[in-house]
Amino acid sequence: MEKTFLMIKPDGVQRQLIGKIVQRFEDKGFQLIGAKLIQITKEQAEYHYAEHKERPFFGELVQFITSGPVFAMVWQGHNVIQLSRTMMGKTNPLDAAPGTIRGDFAVQTGNNIIHGSDSPESAAREIAHFFKPEELLSYERSI
Ligand code: CMP
Repeated sequence: MEKTFLMIKPDGVQRQLIGKIVQRFEDKGFQLIGAKLIQITKEQAEYHYAEHKERPFFGELVQFITSGPVFAMVWQGHNVIQLSRTMMGKTNPLDAAPGTIRGDFAVQTGNNIIHGSDSPESAAREIAHFFKPEELLSYERSI
C-alpha cells in the first residue's frame, strides 16, 4: 500500500488546525500509521529541503520550518501521494482552489500550512528521515 509523508508546518500547528487537517485525510479514507509533534533542527530542515538549497528563499524556509513544532505524519492508502497533494492545493495559496487545505487556510507561499511528498522517491526518503520503522503501525479495521 502506498505511503506518504505529510507535515503540518508551524503556522498550522500554532493556528490549531491539526484536528481539522487530520479529519480531512481520515474522511478521504486514508489511514494514519505514524504521527508525532516535533521541533525539527536546522540540520533536519536543510536535509529535508535540500532540493531548494540554491533558491533565494531557502534561508527563510529553514528559519520558518524550525520556528516552532511541526506535526509529522505518515499516511497510507491508494494513490495517497498524488491525492494528498490534490487535497493540499497548489504551493502558492493564490493559486490554491477553495476546498483545498491551502485554498481554505493559507494566504502566503511561505506560510502554506502543510507539506506533502511529491513522488514515491520523496515519500520514501522523507518517511525514513523523520520516522523509525517501529514508529509506523499497520492495523486493520476490526470495529
Ligand atoms: P513545501 O511543499 O513545503 O516545499 C517547499 C516549500 O518552499 C514550499 O512548500 C513553500 O512553503 C516554500 N516556498 C516555495 N516558494 C517560496 C517562496 N517564493 N518564498 C518562500 N517560500 C517558498
